[in-house]
Amino acid sequence: MTATLSLHHVEKTFGENRVLCGIDLDIEDGTTTALIGPSGGGKSVLLKCAAGLLRTDAGNISVLGHSDVADWEPLRANIGMLFQRNALFDSMNVWQNVAFALQRHGMRFAEAQTEAFRLLTMVGLDQRAGNAAPGALSGGMRKRAALARAIAGSPKLLLLDDPTAGLDPVLAASMEQLIRHLVRQQGATALVVTADVHNLNERFDSVALLDDGRIIWHGPSDQVSAIDHALLVAA
Ligand SMILES: Nc1ncnc2c1ncn2[C@@H]1O[C@H](COP(=O)(O)OP(=O)(O)OP(=O)(O)O)[C@@H](O)[C@H]1O
Ligand SMILES: [Mg+2]
Repeated sequence: MTATLSLHHVEKTFGENRVLCGIDLDIEDGTTTALIGPSGGGKSVLLKCAAGLLRTDAGNISVLGHSDVADWEPLRANIGMLFQRNALFDSMNVWQNVAFALQRHGMRFAEAQTEAFRLLTMVGLDQRAGNAAPGALSGGMRKRAALARAIAGSPKLLLLDDPTAGLDPVLAASMEQLIRHLVRQQGATALVVTADVHNLNERFDSVALLDDGRIIWHGPSDQVSAIDHALLVAA
């Protein structure tokens, strides 16, 4: 097994708040893994550490075989991140948000614009939405714009923080289908935070459960019934 993303003994504390207390997690190439866990448990912090956006206190993270932070910059083009609150740039319209990383990594303006609109169409946003300011879109539309931005440039590792929050069930299912399709078609690997713990076996290859600062269960999604945790018992 090769792991696109590996975390070993990763720790992260904010002041007195120990959030990650020794995370061990290997995300296998070409899979879609759900990261679940109680609210405030550190799922977003884990993703930001994996993206190199937060510095860890201890432990080791390796992405696509690179584990040295000095190596991180060239890796950025291969990490697509969707933030929980989208974090779209207000100073740009929607298509420019999507085109931003493409241009940064060398694509010409016209080509990046065409590609941005193609990606927006994939997530169900039309020309009008693409030309709008992020603030003019509904919450669900902003989420889809953030997904288009995360997948721009076909990154090998997708770190998606609650990509379906606020979407209606039909749209949520189609977004997850799109994510699975991208993973398969582009040979990508996705770690996806989700608050929806229903039918995990139909939606993901694997599931990792984060609680008390540790991954307390990680395995194939068809074995989630073996997890004895309040989060899933209540579902
Ligand atoms: N930049 C930060 N500075 C200080 N504390 C932080 C910071 N980011 C996160 N935290 C703290 O880390 C803990 C975990 O937060 P995190 O956002 O990762 O939880 P989560 O599992 O994503 O929750 P949710 O499901 O509600 O999104 C919380 O106690 C939060 O207050
Ligand atoms: Mg979060």
